[in-house]
Amino acid sequence: MFGLRIRKGSYRNVLLTKKYAIKFPIFSSWENFLRGILCNINEVKYSTINCQHLCPVLCSYLGSFVIVMPRVKVDCSEQTRNKFWSEIEKQPYSEREVYKNIVEWKTDSVGYLGEQIVAVDYGH
Ligand SMILES: Nc1ncnc2c1ncn2[C@@H]1O[C@H](COP(=O)(O)OP(=O)(O)O)[C@@H](O)[C@H]1O
Ligand SMILES: [Mg+2]
Repeated sequence: MFGLRIRKGSYRNVLLTKKYAIKFPIFSSWENFLRGILCNINEVKYSTINCQHLCPVLCSYLGSFVIVMPRVKVDCSEQTRNKFWSEIEKQPYSEREVYKNIVEWKTDSVGYLGEQIVAVDYGH
């Protein structure tokens, strides 16, 4: 309805509107709920270091209980994931290490924000 979709991640549910992705913790267990908040907190933090291949966090609410990103065209193909990591290889060493430490190595973690290839799941 209204073009809204829900995606389920490991620790967060993501409500997708036409333009935005709204992320909040899952409620399956107390531990997962806390991990979901922590992932949101981490994405807020990493988003401020201005890495061009991380999808930015636009705003956050209630101590990062809810965060909002622009909606990305997530592409689950192996080819896109490989393209993402080959772009990362071109970055300076220190930036490259950041991506390697924080981006989930999964096919549904990357996609396109306009022309730019970006990761959407980097809070773990
Ligand atoms: N900015 C975004 N734009 C579009 N889809 C997104 C965005 N962020 C997350 N998603 C979708 O929601 C799913 C779950 O989000 P994710 O960040 O991976 O949560 P978790 O860390 O709990 O696994 C992702 O695999 C992706 O398909
Ligand atoms: Mg995920």
